[in-house]
Amino acid sequence: MSISFGAKMAEKEEKVVIITGANSGIGLSFADRLLTIDPTVVLCLACRNPSRADTAKKTLLATHPTARIDLVRLDTSDIKGIFETAKNIKRKYSRIDFLYLNAGIMPVTHLNWKHMFKSILTPLQLIDMLTTGEGLLNLQDDTTKDGLKSIFCTNLFGHFVLIQELEDLLCQSQSRIIWTSSSNADKMHFSLQDIQHKHGTQGYSSSKYAMDILNIALNEKYNNRGVFSHLISPGVVATNITSTFFPSWMWSVLYPVFLLVRVFAPRFVIEPSIGAESMVWVYGEDRISVRSDRKYTSYSSAIGNSYIVPEEIEYEPKEPMMLYNQLDKLHKMFQDKYNTSSNTGEQ
Ligand SMILES: NC(=O)c1ccc[n+]([C@@H]2O[C@H](COP(=O)([O-])OP(=O)(O)OC[C@H]3O[C@@H](n4cnc5c(N)ncnc54)[C@H](OP(=O)(O)O)[C@@H]3O)[C@@H](O)[C@H]2O)c1
Repeated sequence: MSISFGAKMAEKEEKVVIITGANSGIGLSFADRLLTIDPTVVLCLACRNPSRADTAKKTLLATHPTARIDLVRLDTSDIKGIFETAKNIKRKYSRIDFLYLNAGIMPVTHLNWKHMFKSILTPLQLIDMLTTGEGLLNLQDDTTKDGLKSIFCTNLFGHFVLIQELEDLLCQSQSRIIWTSSSNADKMHFSLQDIQHKHGTQGYSSSKYAMDILNIALNEKYNNRGVFSHLISPGVVATNITSTFFPSWMWSVLYPVFLLVRVFAPRFVIEPSIGAESMVWVYGEDRISVRSDRKYTSYSSAIGNSYIVPEEIEYEPKEPMMLYNQLDKLHKMFQDKYNTSSNTGEQ
């Protein structure tokens, strides 16, 4: 579908904010909070499932009836599809002010209850486990139709391809890119020799740590062209992402227990609107004052007041660019495969 030149011009004055994976959880909560603080934004929900995206749009319009909300189809596990999505976005918008890269999967099959019960004896370890998931999550990683590991592609590489395909528009708009990372990100589970995490069992942690250092590389690469990348973490939040091993009714039943946990573990924020605090915070913050080597994490007080804690990223200085170069090579391979070239807005 093509958009007229006039429609593109109409966006010239309004901020354009794109959120991936915005139809539920933290992304949807952020969209709602954003429309409350900035009702004039042009909000683009980039989602893989059109019907769920449409439901999300209707939900947002119910509380923000005058909002301009567009839908764009995006499946971050489908590389060819991402090339098409980027073209659609370039046809639709003449600028992108904020690109929130939030879509993600954590395909946990079951919890490691043995580890959980052992940790009860050491309260500090228990709190760490509940807020990072370390040692608790057993994952099942699939392979995409492009032959990539699913978690790697969905959480990290698909978003990287989107950035590369939108590069000119992002630079022209001096955009800000915001990654939704996680407290589960751990250097220990990531290797530059296996960036897809083909040979391990902690693909989610690996993908989120890769995100943490890619954020640094993107700043090295793009700050001089006006593009800034930021890293946030929502804390632990009750969303669909846990539905395979911890359904929403369990969150409801155990809610009083989790409120108690929050007293000791303020990263255990529970509510999506509190989890979205770091996304809101970055939106209002000056780009220069947000540090590249910090993950801005949502915390909650016992009574549900949210605040942000900047957490330091541990990394070796050369690693971020080494990861960037590997992703860049992979991206170029798919460009050749699908015979597409970035920055061509036309088909
Ligand atoms: N919940 C937490 O405690 C927590 C903690 C740390 C970080 N996070 C991160 O927060 C982000 C949002 O997760 P959430 O907790 O809000 O869970 P969620 O409600 O399940 O949201 C995940 C979103 O990502 C979308 N998504 C999944 N695979 C996709 C794909 N291949 N292409 C495009 N979109 C895709 C989902 O779409 P569908 O509805 O179609 O599945 C959904 O909109 C994720 O990156 C997650 O890793 C969450």
